[in-house]
Amino acid sequence: MVYGILVAAGSGSRIGFRKQYAVLAGVEMWERSARALLAGGVDRLCIVVPEADRAEMIEKVKTASLHHTCRVVTGGDSRIASVAQGMEGVLAWIAAEGSAAVRVGGGGRTVVRFGDVHVQEGTFPGEAVWVAVHDAARPFVAVADVQAVIEVAKRDGAAVLGKPCVDTIKRVQNQKIVETVPREMLWNAQTPQVFRLDWLVRGLRAAGFGEASRSDRGPVGRTFTDDASLLEAIHLPVTMVAATTVNLKVTTQDDLPFATWLAERLWG
Ligand code: CTP
Ligand code: MG
Repeated sequence: MVYGILVAAGSGSRIGFRKQYAVLAGVEMWERSARALLAGGVDRLCIVVPEADRAEMIEKVKTASLHHTCRVVTGGDSRIASVAQGMEGVLAWIAAEGSAAVRVGGGGRTVVRFGDVHVQEGTFPGEAVWVAVHDAARPFVAVADVQAVIEVAKRDGAAVLGKPCVDTIKRVQNQKIVETVPREMLWNAQTPQVFRLDWLVRGLRAAGFGEASRSDRGPVGRTFTDDASLLEAIHLPVTMVAATTVNLKVTTQDDLPFATWLAERLWG
C-alpha cells in the first residue's frame, strides 16, 4: 500500500500568493498534483493545507470526487513540519484500516514510535507500507515518473526524483567566487520522494518530530529542505531516479508564463 503526503500548506511568499490554488488550464494546482500521484500508484493521500483553509479544502476534495482517496490535514510552520503533520495523518489512517504495519499504544515488534503510534517492522507480506511525499507546487510531474520512483523505493527502500545539474556551479562569498564545484556528482532533488514507512518515520523522529503526542513540537536543529535529507542524516540509503520530463516547481512570478503555457499545451 502506498500512502501519499501532498504538502500544500505554504504561504507562497516568493510568488506573492498561495500558489497551491492557482488555476492551471481550469484546475487548481494542488488538484493537478494530487491526480498525478493517484494516477502514478498512490492509494491514499493526505493533503496538508493551512489551518484557515482546511474546511474549504474538504469541500473542494468532495467536489472533485476525491474524498474516497484523499483526506485533509493541517500543516506546520515549515515544509518539513507540514510533512510531519502529514505523517501523523497517514499513521492515523493506516491504524484505522487495521494494518499490521502500525499499532496504537504499543506492543508487537516496534521499530519506531511516532506520537501514540508504534510503527512495526517494515516488511509484512502484502501489508508493507510506503509513503510518497510530493509538493503541491509540482503539478507537471509525469505519471510514469511517479510510478518509477515508487518502483525503485519498493526495491531499495527510498527513492527521489531529480535531474543532473546543467549549470556550472560556483561557491560564492560576499559576491566573489570562491571556487567552481565539480558538477559530475550534483543533482537537483525534486519530488515525489518515496520511502519505506518505518524509514521516513525514523528520519522524522531523528529530526525531533513525533516525540510527544503531537508531531509539531519537534526541536529541529537544522533546516531540512527535502525529505531525503532526513534519511541521509541517519545514514539510510536513498536512490536517485532521473526525471524524464520538466517537473517544474512553481516558485516565483517568472515561472507563471511557462507554467500557464505548459498547462494549456498538456491539458488545455
Ligand atoms: N509547504 C507546506 N508547508 C509549509 C511550507 C511549504 O506544505 N509551511 C509546501 C508548499 O505549499 C509547496 C511545497 O511545500 O507545495 C514546496 O514549498 P515552496 O515551493 O517553498 O512553497 P511556499 O513555501 O508556499 O513558497 P515560499 O517559500 O515562496 O513562501
Ligand atoms: Mg517555502
